[in-house]
Amino acid sequence: MKTLAHLKSQFLLNPDITYLNFGSFGACPKPIFENYLNWQYELETEPVQFIAINGLVYMKQARQALAEYINCDSDDLVFVPNPTHAFNIVARNLNLNEGDEILSTNLEYGAMDRTWKYYCGLHKAQYIRQPISLPIQSKEEIIEQFFKGYTVNTRAIFISHITSSTGLVLPVNEICDKAKELGLITIVDGAHAPGHVMLDLKQLKADFYTGACHKWMLTPKGSSFLYAHKKYQNDLDPLIISWGYESDNPSASRFIDYHQFNGTRDFSAYLTIPKAIEFMNENNWDDVRSKCRKLVNENAVRFCDLLGTQPISPITDEFLGQLFSIPILTSEPEQLYKLLFNKYKIEIPVTRGNGRFYLRYSINAFNSQADLDTLYSALSEIISATSLLQIPPSKK
Ligand SMILES: Cc1ncc(COP(=O)(O)O)c(C=O)c1O
Repeated sequence: MKTLAHLKSQFLLNPDITYLNFGSFGACPKPIFENYLNWQYELETEPVQFIAINGLVYMKQARQALAEYINCDSDDLVFVPNPTHAFNIVARNLNLNEGDEILSTNLEYGAMDRTWKYYCGLHKAQYIRQPISLPIQSKEEIIEQFFKGYTVNTRAIFISHITSSTGLVLPVNEICDKAKELGLITIVDGAHAPGHVMLDLKQLKADFYTGACHKWMLTPKGSSFLYAHKKYQNDLDPLIISWGYESDNPSASRFIDYHQFNGTRDFSAYLTIPKAIEFMNENNWDDVRSKCRKLVNENAVRFCDLLGTQPISPITDEFLGQLFSIPILTSEPEQLYKLLFNKYKIEIPVTRGNGRFYLRYSINAFNSQADLDTLYSALSEIISATSLLQIPPSKK
């Protein structure tokens, strides 16, 4: 079996940087990037054939490969540039009424909070950011806290599969099951999920699910998908009206026609999805993922001890994937980020949520214990030489 050290050379990442932020923007391995360039080359060699004819066949093949990977029908998926685009389609088409409520959590991604606030605001509906208290203790507790926000006005739930700033895997299967029992529309933000955790959309009772392929699935930027349950597909108008809208030449799926045609664009990034799946299979990605999770878990407590804080979840695969958010005390998050990058050449985000700050490390195939040791030394030095990180007095 190929080792993880071997995989490091497959990435284009700058070797001078300790890259611990796959969570914000994934990196594309060379074979997948070359595949991307080949598609672009084919496009520019014969744009008409590619954009108007062959490309549509390739898009279908890419959808089929992705559908097999995440277990759903290929016609229930449409490619979109990013999850933000996908949720704007969904939120815009829910036909919210005054007083309706979208039940969500206080752990969601900021851009999605804004999307929901905007569309709820248009219809005098409410976006409910139900508090989930940290540290989380158990799945049951999360589910109980979440559904405390349920009222007779709740129309839909919106929840992350893996949260952004806090890097937590949430029990979306159980939450969708319960929401379905309550007759709610279920909308899951899986931006971080494909390629990171096992996905089975036939099993998950999500009416809408979006995932980014350009994060943990390793494809170039601008490749994501929106899954919609068949029941809702014809309710979704596109954000961009183009030839696919009330098409003169409709295909078998209005859903695909409406959302796939957004005017002239380069869809090469989507076409790399089959190659990315092949790359992960060839390199035994299940094994890679479990080695990465081991590294995440083995280092979590060590970092919390250094920073004098407590982990925000049990350190288990139930709540953690390849991300870990170390709670930190800082009054200068931007300065801390800049120092880590400029002086120590470490790319790691200082994330924030509900007034708290975290240093979130991501681990993928090219990372090793040495990267986390580099981070550890840098943080030790910052603690002793600056006032950017405060240690609680009881932990000094
Ligand atoms: C949980 C979550 N949802 C949605 C998004 C939005 O992704 P994009 O900016 O690619 O649309 C992100 C981005 O990191 C995210 O972390």
